[in-house]
Amino acid sequence: MHTISEYQGYFLEYLTKKTTTKEPKNLYEPITYILSLGGKRLRPTLALMTSEIFGSSYKKALDAALAIEVFHNFSLIHDDIMDDAPLRRGKETVHEKWDVNTGILSGDAMLINAYQLFENYDGKIFKELAKLFTKTAIEVCEGQQYDIDFETRDDVTIPEYIKMIEYKTAVLVGAAMKMGAIVADASEESQSSIYDFGRLLGLAFQLQDDYLDAFGDPKTFGKQVGGDIIENKKTFLYLKALEFSSKDEQKQLRGLFSLNPEDPSEKISTVKSFFETTGAKDATRAEIKMYTQKAFSALDNVTISEEKKKLLKYFGENLMNRSV
Ligand code: IPE
Ligand code: IPE
Ligand code: MG
Ligand code: MG
Ligand code: MG
Repeated sequence: MHTISEYQGYFLEYLTKKTTTKEPKNLYEPITYILSLGGKRLRPTLALMTSEIFGSSYKKALDAALAIEVFHNFSLIHDDIMDDAPLRRGKETVHEKWDVNTGILSGDAMLINAYQLFENYDGKIFKELAKLFTKTAIEVCEGQQYDIDFETRDDVTIPEYIKMIEYKTAVLVGAAMKMGAIVADASEESQSSIYDFGRLLGLAFQLQDDYLDAFGDPKTFGKQVGGDIIENKKTFLYLKALEFSSKDEQKQLRGLFSLNPEDPSEKISTVKSFFETTGAKDATRAEIKMYTQKAFSALDNVTISEEKKKLLKYFGENLMNRSV
């Protein structure tokens, strides 16, 4: 086993080696741009780590890890178009720097590139990876559609929200880990337990993402703070604020989430104070903890050493306390 930062280093080295800008420039430059912007590299790190947890070398998992990261970055380019987001990792989003058409096509090419990387695996492993990837990718599309549909609905429930974030975000974290397990030829039981750990951690991760979207520090967050409020996203913060509000406040909050003002600064500050005063902010923190703990419990079913479990828990705890 290696340290988390070593896995990140191995991945970055591989990514740099594999990213080249060919012709036509307008197709490939945005791809190099988004992949070089940084980011936490959470999913590939988990894929490499998991393959070693189940007794293989991280090297065997590099192509799967790259596929996951390329797919993730594709989904971010399209997500930023759909969310009308100006900033990603502290820099202009692809559709702002180039244009929407460029974002669509470069994103499409990345999705195909991701799939192509599985060709580097033989027979049984190829089939299992490709199958998991296809299932996961279609679920991400479903989650993204729910997310957009919810913007204009005012009756979204918490279970609907959880299902939406499970699909748009959590299944990919689960898949990243399961791919590490597949590459390592781990038992089906281990594969499914580690998938569950990743999926539950992914739920906590998206709750935290929503939390930071409202309460992150604009200087370090790297995305537009308040973006979800501008877009009327039905986040856990919003749904809990409604639940904890009086009839009058509910009407006000629903009213704010039916508007798209030219200057959103007042809407953002009013909604954020609703999130605080109703207790929705604290409830979200508690929910993040709850899902992180659930993820840790999923490790009870995995037959790996306590030391390896500790490493995974350490990773989970860091995610819960992140500010980016
Ligand atoms: C952002 O993912 C999109 C979500 C699913 C929340 P990350 O927060 O992992 O983004 P980067 O790759 O670190 O920038
Ligand atoms: C993104 O969710 C999920 C996917 C990209 C599939 P968000 O829209 O919350 O992600 P950010 O906040 O823009 O990174
Ligand atoms: Mg977004
Ligand atoms: Mg989105
Ligand atoms: Mg977000």
